[in-house]
Amino acid sequence: MAYVSKVAVVGAGAVGTAIAYAAQIRGACRELALFDLNAAKVRAEVLDLNHGMQFTPMARITGSDDLAVCADADVIVITAGAKQDPGQTRLDLAAANVDMCRDLVPALVALAPEALLLVVTNPVDVVTYAALKFSGLPAHRVFGSGTVLDSSRLRFLIAEHTRVAVQNVHAYIAGEHGDSEVPLWSTATIGGVPVKDWTGNGVRALDEEVMAQIHHQVVSSAYEIIAGKGATNLAIGLAVSRILEAVLSDEHRVLPVTSRLDDVHGISDVCLSMPSVVGRTGVESVLATPLSDSEMAQLTASAEAVSAVARSLGL
Ligand code: LAC
Repeated sequence: MAYVSKVAVVGAGAVGTAIAYAAQIRGACRELALFDLNAAKVRAEVLDLNHGMQFTPMARITGSDDLAVCADADVIVITAGAKQDPGQTRLDLAAANVDMCRDLVPALVALAPEALLLVVTNPVDVVTYAALKFSGLPAHRVFGSGTVLDSSRLRFLIAEHTRVAVQNVHAYIAGEHGDSEVPLWSTATIGGVPVKDWTGNGVRALDEEVMAQIHHQVVSSAYEIIAGKGATNLAIGLAVSRILEAVLSDEHRVLPVTSRLDDVHGISDVCLSMPSVVGRTGVESVLATPLSDSEMAQLTASAEAVSAVARSLGL
């Protein structure tokens, strides 16, 4: 029987359905299974997705309020849980969403013992650390969307300022997917040119003031979108589909997913995002991307912020 890549999405809310929709359109997998406690909602979302199948690559899309729909998945994407209210930080959600994982994660592992767990639920770094602990799985198989979306936001803003295609901007956000995240300006490049040296029309496009402004815009993006439409979903849907493609096509793609660090720049036993090689086995390696002294200090502070929340929950 031909290999069928099955992705299960736990939570059919705004984020979970955006992930399913993006994965369908991009042909990320051959089977999509959605779970949600609300039977009517998950049935409606599956109907709506299937009704567009004529226009997308083929996929078998199912859904249920029975967790068994996730059985034998290759990757299980966890999006369920409380979401940010306007003005609420991601870390404010930690206690409720970690508690949700205590029973959910072991149940998922029992249904799909070979699956990779891809956490999206916020605060994604703390929830990924909890999911890893509750799963009993090796660290490379439990990781989170991390700062893949934040890095996309950073690249978009750099592209806007320098008037080049966003695909030609190579820049990463590291650390917490949240307020303490760290833009890695020192290694950001466009066509091999460091962005801090980029000159457009003889004018340095990204001076310290502009870089600080872009950093602020990236950090505040989600708050602005949540205030305007209640949740972010479209870009995170695309970001997670990108991660799924890297896994299911075994791309060995460098993506800043969050995983438990083991002596990366001296940081260990905390889930944070660093550029990582992602393939069929999950996180194949975490890159010790060179950091400036300022970036190292910010990353250390980010690690401490995330660790403090994890410790406060007894993780
Ligand atoms: C955001 C959510 C995914 O940053 O945390 O949009």
